[in-house]
Amino acid sequence: MTTSSKPPQRIAIYPGSFDPLTSGHVDIIERGSRIFDQIVVAILGNVEKTPLFSEKERVEIIRDVFKAHANVQVETFSGLLVDYAQQKQASVLVRGLRAVSDFEYEFQMALMNRHLAPGLETVFMMPAEQYTYISSRLIKEVFTLGGEITGLVPPIVEERLRAKQKAKKK
Ligand code: PNS
Repeated sequence: MTTSSKPPQRIAIYPGSFDPLTSGHVDIIERGSRIFDQIVVAILGNVEKTPLFSEKERVEIIRDVFKAHANVQVETFSGLLVDYAQQKQASVLVRGLRAVSDFEYEFQMALMNRHLAPGLETVFMMPAEQYTYISSRLIKEVFTLGGEITGLVPPIVEERLRAKQKAKKK
């Protein structure tokens, strides 16, 4: 007799602040969505520093960008990432590595997460070369000072940034 049990789903979490989502993040999420059965973009909530975009806005933006990707979910989380990953039954954490300068912080986080949850594997992915110098922090700085950010963030992020700037001027 044959049983038709489905193979287990490989669920990955891609955690971050995403304030705002950049083209580098989009590139990593697209790569992850091709490798894993499901990729959950997990936005860190409840942080003390005041973000530019609220949690709700960040969820809306990322959901809009990935509305055509059935295996990309967008949620917020608080508390320990490893606890959230367990709750989502995820076996992988995805992090993007842009340059050697990212390595030390990422290495510490990956090993701390492994200490806390030995069965959870961190997988590092490299974005396309043209995105290796982009960070959310630099996007905010350049935009605030009047620099060009077209192509460095998805169009919806640029629109929302312009709307915020306009509202501020009123
Ligand atoms: O985009 P960021 O700000 O580099 O993302 C950092 C993030 C959200 C991955 C990290 O701060 C995190 O995992 N926070 C949740 C709390 C936690 O589990 N801390 C221990 C990490 S080793």
